Amino acid sequence: MRKQIVAGNWKMNLDAAQSQELITALKSEKLSNAVQVAIATPFVHLASAVSQTKGSDIGVVAQNMHQAISGAFTGEISAPMLKSIGVNTTLLGHSERRAYFHETDTMLAEKVNTALENELEIIFCFGEELEQRKSGSHFDVVSSQLRNALFHLDTTQWKHIVLAYEPVWAIGTGETASPEQAQEMHAHIRDVLASQYDDSLAQSVSILYGGSVKPSNAKEIFAKPDVDGGLIGGASLNAADFAAIVNAF
Ligand code: PGA
Repeated sequence: MRKQIVAGNWKMNLDAAQSQELITALKSEKLSNAVQVAIATPFVHLASAVSQTKGSDIGVVAQNMHQAISGAFTGEISAPMLKSIGVNTTLLGHSERRAYFHETDTMLAEKVNTALENELEIIFCFGEELEQRKSGSHFDVVSSQLRNALFHLDTTQWKHIVLAYEPVWAIGTGETASPEQAQEMHAHIRDVLASQYDDSLAQSVSILYGGSVKPSNAKEIFAKPDVDGGLIGGASLNAADFAAIVNAF
């Protein structure tokens, strides 16, 4: 059975007090035991989030990390730094990192390697832009994002990878991919994995959907057979909404 996962991506939101309040509120919600729950907080809140969630079932995830393990990279955060404060998972490849911080597939392949070498689990994000969907190239775009950043990995390394398909046109726009569009792409992703590796690997990787998931649409999306959870932006900033999404499975 694949893991069901709901991860909140707080992006660059909330100050220290607000971060603590949200985690306190989240801890008081009843969250389904069947679902792995995590929050990706801004770097400055990670250490306190780790201590605040100790003993709970809420995991703490970084939103990014640098591909080098140390050195003259002012303003950056490394994998060993994350590990040293008890963070064991990082997002990589979010479309905002690709668009605003020029992260390329090549750079992401390096980040993936560094994360794995440092025993971090990865939630790897990818997805097509609106123009690419309109022109019908979305399946090819997604295939090449996966190929370029991940297909150098061997089968055993995939145990540490969760995929998050996030069509860029659905992120923060209020426009969600329909459950059918999500299912169609997730099935495509499994086909690509099966042809690069094998069917058992393709069936074992959890694939999350992200892009304007809300309490009102989560159930329908999560009901699709190849959707194993969600990466939640805006709605993860409200404890009741985030809990409702977790409990939508
Ligand atoms: P959204 O963001 O839920 O606000 O659309 C999702 C994401 O960027 O991970």
